[in-house]
Amino acid sequence: MGRIENSVLANKIAALKKSKRAIILAHYYTAGEVQAVADFVGDSLALSQKAATVDADIILFAGVRFMAETAKVLSPDKKVLLPVVEAGCSLADSCDAGELARVKAENPDHLVVAYVNTSVEVKALTDICCTSSNALDIVRGLPAEQKILFIPDRNLGSYINKCTGRNMKLWDGACLVHEEFSVEEIVKLKEAHPQAKVVVHPECKAEVVELADYAGSTAGILAYCKNSEAEEFIVTTESGILYEMERTLPHKKFYPVPHKGCEGCISCLDMKKVTLENIYETLLNETPEVVIDEDVRAKAEGAIVRMLAL
Ligand code: 13P
Ligand code: SF4
Repeated sequence: MGRIENSVLANKIAALKKSKRAIILAHYYTAGEVQAVADFVGDSLALSQKAATVDADIILFAGVRFMAETAKVLSPDKKVLLPVVEAGCSLADSCDAGELARVKAENPDHLVVAYVNTSVEVKALTDICCTSSNALDIVRGLPAEQKILFIPDRNLGSYINKCTGRNMKLWDGACLVHEEFSVEEIVKLKEAHPQAKVVVHPECKAEVVELADYAGSTAGILAYCKNSEAEEFIVTTESGILYEMERTLPHKKFYPVPHKGCEGCISCLDMKKVTLENIYETLLNETPEVVIDEDVRAKAEGAIVRMLAL
């Protein structure tokens, strides 16, 4: 779609937001034009904090299902809209609530720490949530002798084990987008741009995180690029983040790491399902709405609130 159509749609969205007291929360991995119409763009932690406190009648979540569910859990009295119900997450899908209940029953002495990239049903079986921004602090805050089951990301889990010296039991899940980044492609870019700093999301494999000058959440990566004296960065995470990098740091250079043998395919296709067209339609018709069973919501809220309180 061209820029004229985009600006027409953006104006229509702005008018609907105003008349319906709606706000748009967007993740950094959504398309640039989607981030441009959002009231707030952030990482998973900042978005949940915002969802808990925002003053609005409607929250439209430009992101994937687990994020919109988290917003609904924290703001049950608001209408939470998710433009594409099929916008899922390979990481969240790697942990099923029934399977978690079975593993919990086999490990009754383990505390369940869940990355927020999980379904609301999984969060309802969780003791405390974390995001990639606060995972190290949350795990460090638990008594050293406490046994932990970390779900669902084996990569983030092994990164936390390495940084904290813990031996958490890890669920065998992964994000299919971050799993694809390879040492080989980073080394190629480093050879071409030897001054560039390597930034990596900890959802990547251990050997990839190993190459990082900085590893952290999307907001952490953005803050590092902003505060670093370096002028060039090799970016090892989903490509949507380049919009915020180039918008806020136009004098710096960013080199996205391609997936091996697949130039340009570093997108989370689920995040990219959100478009200006479906945001407009969703706001206009106030559907699809996120609806969660109250018993499940209340249980999941406990795990998220325990995280936000820390
Ligand atoms: P953060 O924005 O919390 O780093 O999360 C990354 C991610 O994969 C979200 O889906
Ligand atoms: Fe899920 Fe990975 Fe997409 Fe994030 S990037 S929403 S973890 S599939």
